[in-house]
Amino acid sequence: MKVDVLLGLQWGDEGKGKVVDVLTPKYNIVARFQGGPNAGHTLEFEGKHYVLRSIPSGVFQHNQINVIGNGVVLDPVLFMDEAMELEKSGVDLKRILKISRKAHLILPTHRLLDAANENQKGEARIGTTGKGIGPTYTDKVSRHGLRVGDIEERFLEKYNAAVSRHLSMLQSMGVKTDVKPLEERWMRGIEYLSQFEIIDSEFFINHQLAEGKSVLCEGAQGSMLDVDFGSYPFVTSSNTICAGACAGLGVAPRTIGEVYGIFKAYCTRVGAGPFPTELNDATGAEMRRIGHEYGAVTGRERRCGWIDLVALRYTIMLNGVTQLIMMKSDVLDDFPVIKACDAYEVNGKITRDFPFTVEGDVKPIYTEIKGWKTPMSRMTSAEEFPAEFCDYMAFLEQKLGVPITMVSVGPDRAQTIIRERK
Ligand code: GDP
Ligand code: IMO
Ligand code: MG
Repeated sequence: MKVDVLLGLQWGDEGKGKVVDVLTPKYNIVARFQGGPNAGHTLEFEGKHYVLRSIPSGVFQHNQINVIGNGVVLDPVLFMDEAMELEKSGVDLKRILKISRKAHLILPTHRLLDAANENQKGEARIGTTGKGIGPTYTDKVSRHGLRVGDIEERFLEKYNAAVSRHLSMLQSMGVKTDVKPLEERWMRGIEYLSQFEIIDSEFFINHQLAEGKSVLCEGAQGSMLDVDFGSYPFVTSSNTICAGACAGLGVAPRTIGEVYGIFKAYCTRVGAGPFPTELNDATGAEMRRIGHEYGAVTGRERRCGWIDLVALRYTIMLNGVTQLIMMKSDVLDDFPVIKACDAYEVNGKITRDFPFTVEGDVKPIYTEIKGWKTPMSRMTSAEEFPAEFCDYMAFLEQKLGVPITMVSVGPDRAQTIIRERK
């Protein structure tokens, strides 16, 4: 019985997709447990480049079953586009992908509501991905949602009821809209989705576990975007932390084994909300340029800054992280000095714990570490790491209390270095 969880410890885009692909051969099943097409998980190997949104990143190693769990919200149109693309490139998706009956459907009107909510918020907008994530989870919690399993019975009746409810909400927000043009493709998406194996994934996964199979749960977003513990209200609408894997797949907490926490050697964030270590200067721009920090889904510029150990200690605690994986180390190759924020000064007081709000006068307190000034992207083993880079890792391990077991030095599957545990 083994369920390991891999998740992002910052504000998303840490490189989860790449590492899930690397780890997939060690598992029988790869499963997504929350989020939806707001995610954009990039994989590169053998000169190919893919961005996955709703489909787990275990589909390229061919022998694993991939599951879209009950905690995920699924847009049939985006799913169809993504899945067809994969099928075209030779992935036998209908054989290896199973979808939970209890996953909630994103309706065309959810996307319209997402946009309307954002417009209504004006200056206070969250900067969502516009994929209808918030309104779909809102319907789930308010018990109005439509699930994949609903396709099997009286679907049109349920769909029409949901849409007419949404249209009156939109009308009350002053949005005039004609949903008909969007419906035709959406219904085609539903038909396409129905060709996949729709399952009670909680039973499937637990039966597989009972037979001794192993599961890797793939997180989306990052822990600082968690609806309970993230920088609320600038968060997504699901539990992105490890506990979300239990609720989003129906696995018991005691089945959880390793928790892989992924972080960048620096930090990024897309959309609005607090980011204490953000650099609105040439250094931040340099990180963005070298790290190609533009959203995989929306193409938006990612905000960049130094690594934030206050936030990382918080998310390591929330998730019970057992192993750390450091990504994009190569992006800092040319920086003479690297800074790490170990505490904040909030209204004149020093804190090492992530505060309730990060508004107002929050100053990061930095420790400076000498940069390694050596190109790392061609390195293939930890023995090649420059001494200053080893010092940086040792500093992080000491401050975070968890070993770094893997280091990524480039976007390709092959640019991943496993560190032997001493
Ligand atoms: P995810 O959402 O957590 O899967 O991450 P994204 O795919 O949104 O963003 C990570 C980006 O960094 C992608 O463009 C990856 O190809 C790229 N990437 C991943 N690891 C590395 C690395 O070690 N070095 C560099 N330079 N790029 C990386
Ligand atoms: P992956 O899985 C980075 C951010 C949005 C916005 C907030 C709410 O690729 O790491 P939503 O559309 O979810 O209601 O938007 O969350 N956000 C992400 N940022 N990576 C992601 O996913 C994200 N998914 C949502 O930018 O600030
Ligand atoms: Mg991403």
